[in-house]
Parts: sequence; C-alpha cells; structure tokens
Amino acid sequence: MHDDLEQRKAQHLDLAMRAESEPGTDTLLSCVRLVHCALPELALNQIDLSAKLCGKALRAPIMIVGMTGGTERAGKINRELAQLAEEEGVAFGVGSMRAVLHDPAAIETFSVKPARPPLLMANLGAQQLVQTPAAARSLIEQLGADGICIHLNAAQELVQAEGDRDFRGCLDAIGVLAQELGERLIVKETGCGISPQVARMLVARGVRTLDVSGAGGTSWTRVEEMRAVGARERALGALLSQWGIPTAAALGSVRSALDLQTAPGAGERVSLIASGGVRTALDAARAIALGADVVGLALPFLRAHQTGGIEAARESLRALVEALRAIALLCGAPSLAALRAAPRVIEQPLASHLAQLSRVPVSGSVAR
Ligand SMILES: Cc1cc2nc3c(=O)[nH]c(=O)nc-3n(C[C@H](O)[C@H](O)[C@H](O)COP(=O)(O)O)c2cc1C
Repeated sequence: MHDDLEQRKAQHLDLAMRAESEPGTDTLLSCVRLVHCALPELALNQIDLSAKLCGKALRAPIMIVGMTGGTERAGKINRELAQLAEEEGVAFGVGSMRAVLHDPAAIETFSVKPARPPLLMANLGAQQLVQTPAAARSLIEQLGADGICIHLNAAQELVQAEGDRDFRGCLDAIGVLAQELGERLIVKETGCGISPQVARMLVARGVRTLDVSGAGGTSWTRVEEMRAVGARERALGALLSQWGIPTAAALGSVRSALDLQTAPGAGERVSLIASGGVRTALDAARAIALGADVVGLALPFLRAHQTGGIEAARESLRALVEALRAIALLCGAPSLAALRAAPRVIEQPLASHLAQLSRVPVSGSVAR
C-alpha cells in the first residue's frame, strides 16, 4: 500500500479513539419520546428482534459499520469484530478498500476469514467508483462479501489536504452499480447525513438500502482538523466540525420522503440504516421508531475493542441487544415492525426539522 495511505489509516484509528472526535453535535434522537405501555402483556423472551438487510436475516437489527483496513492493526480489528458479528448474528462492514486498488496484497487486512457474519459488506468511496467502476465487483469477490457499501464523504475530503476536490459523476456511477447489484448495494454517508432530496435521487437510480449516517457521532471533519498540518485545513475542519444533518432529522425525513415515493404500487420499501451517534439501546429504539430497519454503530465498537479486546466489544453488543429487547417490551412491541408503529411523541427541535426538511421541493438534480 502507498505509505501515505497506510499512515493516514493508522492516524485515523488513533485520532478517532480520542474524545474530541465526537464534537457533541446533537443527533436529536432524544426528541423521540417513546410512550410507556404499562400493560405490555408480553414476555421478554417473546420479543422478536430479528431483521432483514440486503436480503440476509439478522438476529438483531444491528450493523457494525465500516471502519478500517489497510494495516495489520486494522486487520485484527476487522477479523475480531466480524467474528463477534457472526456470533451474535448481526451485520458487518469493512472500511474503505481503496488500499486494495493500489496494492492487491492489502486484501489480507480486510479479509475476515474464518469468520462469516450473516451479512458481510465491502466498502469503497463514491469518487473511487467513478474512477474505477469495475472495482466494486472485484472487491466484493476478493472479500467473499455479500455486497458493497459505497460511501459519500465530501466534507471529509474537502478538509483533507490530499483529499478529492471533484465530486462529479457519483450519482451516475452509483446508478450503474445499483442496476448491476440490486439489493447487494448500500449507499452510506459517513457522519454528515443524507437528505430526503439526495435519498430520492439515489432511490430513483435503483438504490434499495441507504445508511443515512447523520451528524451526532464521529465527526470526520473534526478528525481531519486534528490531523491537519496546514493552518487553512485546520481552520476549515474546525469550522465544519459540526456540519451535517442530525441523524434523527435525516432518518425521519428520508423515511417520510421514501414512503411517499414508494407508496403502494410504486415499488418496494427502501431499507434504512441509522448510524451516526447511536450510542445506547434507547437511541437504537428511537431510531427504529423513526423508521430505521437496522441501526449502525462504528466508534463504540472500535473503542470497546481497542480498550478491552473482543470480550469488551462482545459485552457492549450483548448489553445493547438486551436493553433494546427491554425497551421494546416497555413499548408493548413484540417485534421491530410493532416498535416502528408504536406511539411516540416528537419533541422540538426535531419536529420542526422534520417538517421543514419534508417541505423542500424535490427535483431531478441537486439544487445549485
Ligand atoms: C475509525 C473509523 C473509520 C471509518 N472509516 C470509514 C470507511 O473507511 N468507510 C466508511 O464508509 N465509513 C467509515 N467510517 C464511518 C462510519 O462507518 C460511520 O458512518 C460513522 O462513523 C458514524 O457512526 P458512529 O458515530 O457510530 O461512529 C469510519 C468510522 C470510524 C469511527
């Protein structure tokens, strides 16, 4: 692998571990007040948390979303978190596989064998897809994955001195890939959120699963600010460190927009992953109530793994699932579908975010 790319990946892991990588942007998930059901008439062991994502069955609605690869340390993180995902029946994604395009041997640091989570996803940036459209299929094959996540990260690239500056052609490239891969494609943001307008453009091109990855968790503009050598990049990173659509606002508005677009007879329901600052089972339950099919977490599993190994990561995943089960019971919801339909109160400022985001006119192209 290019030394600079390897060094950048190593720095990303170290900097993400620091508290400042989460600047404290509000996900607005706490504005979703789930309504307590004093008479649930359910047994805890009766609550069914099983979910489906990209055609694969999961035992719990959770994805350990893409983080890393390209170094030996990253390889261990991928293998052990994938082992955990297999044990607990949840989805797993590796980090950007750009390194493999430069150095085929780097695949070893993404490969998770002998682990095999129920859903295993490769990962590549949208700009790399534009430059090398054939790479996606090859990366899926090399990893032995079920499909690929194409990530959108314009804000991070703009802060990075060595980052991309040209974001043209991504929608077309994603559209071609969506036709080829069908449900084996996820398009994700990386902590700045997907708006209803962008979601509709992607879905119109055939994308069936989106990870809205909103603001409120790991901030890549902040991480690049911390990495920056030049004063100008550092200042831009600081300025944009809280940039993005709060996770709950992105999720709720995208769900409403797509439910309108995919009204009966107009096509199948689009699956949504909610990541970006999901930290507790209450966050997860609130995201599901807002319309998420699965919640995604990155930083919490990295931190658990880097401080206490696979055992600590296992404990945090199991505790998350068990607390989610308890919350579903307290909402009187025997399943995730029931939790999505359960009563809730949307408080301010999320209510006005949802109302205003839904009102923005939708056109065939991005407003300029
Ligand atoms: C250390 C680290 C590395 C990441 N690298 C990638 C990546 O290579 N590709 C990608 O799609 N997302 C990447 N992400 C973004 C996450 O997948 C996720 O969208 C984002 O961090 C929000 O989730 P969180 O708040 O739970 O961390 C990375 C996140 C972390 C913490």
